[in-house]
Amino acid sequence: MIVRSAEFVKSATRPDNYPPAEMPEVAFAGRSNVGKSSLINVLVNRRGLVRTSSTPGRTQLLNFFDINGTFSLVDLPGYGFAKVPLAVKKQWGPMIRTYLGGRPSLKAVVHLVDLRRVPNEEDLQLLDWLEEYEIPTIPVITKADKVPRSRRERQIKGILEATGLPRDAFTLFSAITREGRDEIWQRIEAALGL
Ligand code: GTP
Ligand code: MG
Repeated sequence: MIVRSAEFVKSATRPDNYPPAEMPEVAFAGRSNVGKSSLINVLVNRRGLVRTSSTPGRTQLLNFFDINGTFSLVDLPGYGFAKVPLAVKKQWGPMIRTYLGGRPSLKAVVHLVDLRRVPNEEDLQLLDWLEEYEIPTIPVITKADKVPRSRRERQIKGILEATGLPRDAFTLFSAITREGRDEIWQRIEAALGL
């Protein structure tokens, strides 16, 4: 994928605020602080297009980006961070379900999990919803650079057991080394029909 332009379009919480569903779209979901915004920045080669933060729970809205004027990427708010106010936490489920269930242009969701952690109840909940709405999923294991190569497959085993997905469903990624970037683009392009 050659990214000629990458522009922030708008933030939204409700469907009446989403941009028109005119272009095919891929969204990024996962636990707070897992690295969703960092992955988007690496994909589009723009260090600061999407705000990243060491403070989890930074992204609390759906953020829509226009790429090349031909498709959209959507940074979804993360889940599972203890310090996020309860009122915000309660909104997350309905906000995500409304989006997943009512966005005709949505072609796939990139679901990120951290190589160092076993997916939890909320990760599995999200996978259930994706299945329920029949949305193709692109599973990514991120922060690969945080684990030495010798220990990676052992960590991955725990992720496979928790999710029930096969090894080849996952692309291993690192925002630091950029490994996995090309493979994720290929999977996104296939989902978008490009
Ligand atoms: P929320 O917006 O809170 O849901 O978080 P997010 O999923 O968008 O995470 P974000 O991209 O902001 O990254 C969170 C932190 O993890 C930042 O400090 C990033 O620099 C760091 N980070 C993200 N990806 C990687 C990675 O692949 N390797 C390493 N070492 N750090 C990463
Ligand atoms: Mg973010």
